Order: sequence, then C-alpha cells, then structure tokens
Amino acid sequence: SIPVPNVQEMVRKEPAKIPDRYIRNDEDKPPITDMSHLSSEIPVINLSLLSTGETEELNKLDFACKEWGFFQVVNHGIAKEVLQNMKDATAEFFELPLEEKNKYEMPPDDIQGYGHAYVVSEEQKLDWSDALILLVHPSHYRKPKLWPSTPKGYREIINAYTKGVQKVGEQLLRAFSTVMGMDKDGLLALHKNLLQALRVNYYPACCRPDQVLGISPHSDTSSITILMQEADINGLQIRHNGGWVQVKPVPDALVVNVGDVIEILSNGKYKSIEHRAVTNQNNSRISYASFLIPQDDVEIEPLAHLVDSQRLMYKQVVYGEYARSSMQRKMEGKAHTEIAKI
Ligand code: SIN
Ligand code: FE2
Repeated sequence: SIPVPNVQEMVRKEPAKIPDRYIRNDEDKPPITDMSHLSSEIPVINLSLLSTGETEELNKLDFACKEWGFFQVVNHGIAKEVLQNMKDATAEFFELPLEEKNKYEMPPDDIQGYGHAYVVSEEQKLDWSDALILLVHPSHYRKPKLWPSTPKGYREIINAYTKGVQKVGEQLLRAFSTVMGMDKDGLLALHKNLLQALRVNYYPACCRPDQVLGISPHSDTSSITILMQEADINGLQIRHNGGWVQVKPVPDALVVNVGDVIEILSNGKYKSIEHRAVTNQNNSRISYASFLIPQDDVEIEPLAHLVDSQRLMYKQVVYGEYARSSMQRKMEGKAHTEIAKI
C-alpha cells in the first residue's frame, strides 16, 4: 500500500475542497441509474426461522442469492445493546484526534490497522473513506497492537460484536449448506476454521456526493459478508439489472451478501454481486463489514452435485492465492471470479 491522505482530516480542514484524485470518471459518478424504487424488493429473511429449517425461509434464501446476491436478516439474535455499543464506541474512536488513531496505523506491508488498504498507484482514483481493519477470528490470529484501546472498553466491545456476527455467520452457512444440497455442517467443515475479518468504514460527509465514491465498485472475495449499517443513512448500492439499487437500512437488520467463494462453490448459481458506497452531503456514515472466509489453504471448486446437469464454470483455486490475486484486480473494477472462470 502507498500512503494517502486521511480523508476525515482533509474534510475537517477544507470541507469545500475535493482533490482530483477523488473525482471519478463520468461513467463511475453516482447516480448512474436511479433504481431506488427497487430497494424494498431486496429480501428480508428471518434468521430464527431459517435456522429451524422453515421451507419458506430457505426458499427465500435461495431466491435472494440467485436474484440479488444480497438480503437483510432480522431476528438474528445479536442483542440490541451489543450493536449499539459497537456503534457508540466506534463513533467515539473516529472522533479521536488523528495522532491518537494513528497509534493503530496500518503498517505499509499489512492490510490490518487504521488507514487505507489496496492503494497501489498514484493514478488510482481514491475512495472517500478511512477504515479500521482487523482480523478478529480465530483470536490467536489477532494483532493486539492494532486493536484500539480507546475509547475505554473498545476491544471488548469489538470482541462481543464480532462474536455475535460469527454465530450468525455459522447459522447462515448451515442454511446455505442446506439450500446447496449439502449436509447441514458441510460448508463449515469445508472452511476448516471459519475466519472473520472486520472492516469498519468511515465515510466523511462530502460537499459533492455526485463526484466521488465512498468505496469503489467491487465484489467481496469472502464466502459471505455480514454488514451493519447505520439506521437512517443511505450509502450502500448494489448492481442490479445494469443499474444501482440502494440497500435501505431496515431497523436492527444486518445486510448479508454472497461472496466469491459461494459463487464458485455453487458453480455460479449464487452470485457475488458488485457493490459500492456513495457519500452524503450532510452526514458522515460508518459501516461495519465482517468478511467470513476460509482458511488460506482451503481448495475451492464447484460442488460436484451442482455441476452434474450444468457446464463446469470455475476451476479449482486455493483460497489464499485467490484472495491475493483478487487484490491485484481490485482497481480494474472487474469481477474477481473472472480469475477462476473456465
Ligand atoms: C463494503 O462493501 O465493504 C462497504 C459497504 C458499505 O459501506 O455499505
Ligand atoms: Fe464489499
């Protein structure tokens, strides 16, 4: 990664200025096509019913993953207080002076810590956001030096939140196993050790939301991603029928999307959909993305029983290698799964 300015600080000092490196080419400027009337069609799934194996809920999951690649989950079992503590402490963290936050600065050879991952060239268009990225699970992978100890109790709060997310992820992967025709624990076993990386995104308000992007279009290299957004600030947009549809926050819900791993395992039946974040003129926005991923050495290929009647669409990849080559493609704005396409 090469060093880039802290966006929050830049906006604090000169709120009316947008350096060229942030101004998008015309074809990328939001909004491209306003399809926000479709927002309400993004499925909302009841996790508790899904976990007890209700057919109707399982069908909803199957439909959501085929048609949208995204859905929201309610009744997910994470206590309101745990979600709220995470939001409150995180808001406090980002309000700290830059010198304080920089104690957890991302080292140049790392993608964990506070800063900007995946900036590789001076020409690259930059995202209107700063991030805090931590590998959280399993806990022996943690780098405690990069875990903020201010505000007080923040580490424990992150721990409690991501523990809840891990549980939700495990339940979701059991349901995915079922709709993908495997044993209930098939996907979890395949992952060996289910890893979780947390990426907290801070998008400062922007005087020209029509000129910049909070996060460039990309698909997730994860198996699945579980995202918490703020209650009433829009930002997340997903590709649908050639346009962009906003994922409007549903109160207390978590947003879930299919990542590249599930796309490959399902032989393309389920899609890892391209998405991006836009900024707001009057509000900053924080989002919390948990990437659930397999161990590096896990081999990913379409499940044999899903290929039977269909052409094999993807070749086998080793997850760690796949994730690394995907990083190279991040700025090309192409689907990562192209790497694995036959
Ligand atoms: C992401 O794709 O990691 C962030 C999306 C969001 O901020 O809503
Ligand atoms: Fe993403």
